[in-house]
Amino acid sequence: MSELEHRNLGGEAWPFGFVAQGVGGEVPTAHWFVADADGPLVGHAVVSVAAEIAELQRISVDAEHRRTGLATRLLATIEDLAVELGADRVLLEVREDNDGARAFYAAAGYAVLDRRPRYYADGTAAEVMIKHLSEADRTSTAAPA
Ligand SMILES: CC(C)(COP(=O)(O)OP(=O)(O)OC[C@H]1O[C@@H](n2cnc3c(N)ncnc32)[C@H](O)[C@@H]1OP(=O)(O)O)[C@@H](O)C(=O)NCCC(=O)NCCS
Repeated sequence: MSELEHRNLGGEAWPFGFVAQGVGGEVPTAHWFVADADGPLVGHAVVSVAAEIAELQRISVDAEHRRTGLATRLLATIEDLAVELGADRVLLEVREDNDGARAFYAAAGYAVLDRRPRYYADGTAAEVMIKHLSEADRTSTAAPA
C-alpha cells in the first residue's frame, strides 16, 4: 500500500507508519480499499466518514491500469459505503494542476465548491470538490444494458 502511495502520489505520499496505522484499523473513521486486478495491488482509495460528510482522502491507480474503470469502481464503492454510514455528500481536495484527476472527478459528477490557495507543500492551490449523494447521483458500476 505504501509503495502504491509513492508510485502514484509522489511527494504527497503518506509516511509508511501512517499507512500502516490506517491499514491496521487504528483510525476509526478511515476506510481503505484496494483494486487488485486479479493479481498484485494496482490501486487504492481511502475515505474518512464522520457524520454526514465523507472525505475522499486518496484514490490512485497504477499508470498501466488507468482508463480501464478501476478508479470509477473504487469511487462507487466508497460512495456506497458513505451512504451506508449516513453521509449525504463527499468532499475532496485535488491539486489545481492535476488535470487528469480533475477530469476524472468531473466525469464522476463532482463539482468545484471552492479553491484553497497554497494548500500543498509546494505552494500549489487545491480545488475543493463536492458531490451530493442521492441514489440517482451516485457513481454507477452497473454494466451497460
Ligand atoms: C485519477 C485516477 C485515479 C483515475 O483513475 P482511472 O482508473 O484511470 O479512472 P477511470 O478509468 O475510472 O476513468 C473514468 C473516467 O474519468 C475520466 N478520466 C480519467 N482519467 C482521465 C485523464 N487522465 N484525463 C481525462 N479524463 C480522465 C474519463 O472520463 C474516464 O472515462 P473514459 O476512460 O471512458 O474516457 C488516476 O489517473 C490516478 O491514479 N492518477 C494519479 C493519482 C492521482 O492523481 N489521484 C488523485 C489525487 S486527488
